[in-house]
Amino acid sequence: MNIQFTYLPGDGIGPEVGAAAMAVLQATTQRFGHTLEAEHHLVGGAAIDAGEKPLPETSFESCQRTGAVLLGAVGGPKWDHLKGADRPELGALLPLRKRLNLYANIRPCKPYEALLDRAPLKRDRLEGTDFVVMRELTGGIYFGKKGRDAEGAYDECRYSESEVERIAIKAFDLAMTRRKKVTSVDKSNVLETSRLWRETVERVASRYPQVELEHLLVDAMTMHMLTRPTAFDVVLTENMFGDILTDEASVLCGSMGVIPSASLSDAREDQRVVGMFEPIHGSAPDIAGQGKANPLAMILSAAWMLRLSFGLNPEAAAIETAVEQALASGDVTGDLGGTLSTDQVGSQIADRVRRAT
Ligand code: NAI
Ligand code: MG
Repeated sequence: MNIQFTYLPGDGIGPEVGAAAMAVLQATTQRFGHTLEAEHHLVGGAAIDAGEKPLPETSFESCQRTGAVLLGAVGGPKWDHLKGADRPELGALLPLRKRLNLYANIRPCKPYEALLDRAPLKRDRLEGTDFVVMRELTGGIYFGKKGRDAEGAYDECRYSESEVERIAIKAFDLAMTRRKKVTSVDKSNVLETSRLWRETVERVASRYPQVELEHLLVDAMTMHMLTRPTAFDVVLTENMFGDILTDEASVLCGSMGVIPSASLSDAREDQRVVGMFEPIHGSAPDIAGQGKANPLAMILSAAWMLRLSFGLNPEAAAIETAVEQALASGDVTGDLGGTLSTDQVGSQIADRVRRAT
């Protein structure tokens, strides 16, 4: 297969972890007899520095055409003085999500055995934790009308029934491939959008009799995630609640540097599920350019791209196994207590994939 995708390294450590992921992708495609065709494009501060908008039209066009995007991270203090859509985050990330219709954001929470003691929760409470957050990504308060008036400021939160329905379907479909439980998180005791959310989720749930459905209010969920993390399988929630809860979930995994994410749309005519894959961390300007960045989250994001955009399961699994082995052997960067550089971790994982039988 020819694996054609758009590669957006972005800013800060983005290009560093990106180079490591590209080395792993090269090794994997060689090992499994595929070809790799990465279309490199500028995005974020890197695009601004080149005299372009944060999301140049040529970059967007490539994303739209390939339907598979691997993104490092965007932003940093260098561009903090810019306003509104001139900023890397508002001018590149949000439009990419909206224009590619990437309404389903998926983040895993399954702590690695090797990292269990790095998390702030006790090992016995964490052991067995394995859930996925399905966050709605293109609606809600982040995309609502916002502004200032005589009295102050406002941000409007809106959801249409079809927006809730399609993300709920994604969550139930995913639960069917896992432990068949969906926990829907809302604030239906206060918010009208949450009442619609709960009604719609109930309606979708009736089509999945094998899946257990649980509703939790978002404030309670922040506690449940710490007191009974093993109780969850698929956590379904709206945009802002998902933003907050996924940061909380990342703490359970012991390090932000090992968590990938996928933002998905529906399948195109050629059956390809349009997706953007990125680590959950940002551009880490404090360590950029020093070879210290942990590339595992970016490498795992590349594995997810192979699985979810190209249907290449054994290839993705080979990368994931190599990452697990690297963690178990301590072949990792300083943030995880190792001594390797970003590049060295990348080439180690690439070697492991090449040697895998
Ligand atoms: P951050 O995730 O970049 O960094 C937080 C802390 O974690 C820093 O101390 C950093 O050194 C460390 N860290 C992050 N990734 C690491 C890695 N792979 N290996 C080792 N250490 C790592 O978050 P921060 O500092 O809040 O944001 C920095 C910039 O990134 C901001 O401009 C922000 O807007 C942007 N950002 C972009 C995202 C994206 O493009 N999707 C997501 C989050 C933030
Ligand atoms: Mg966030």
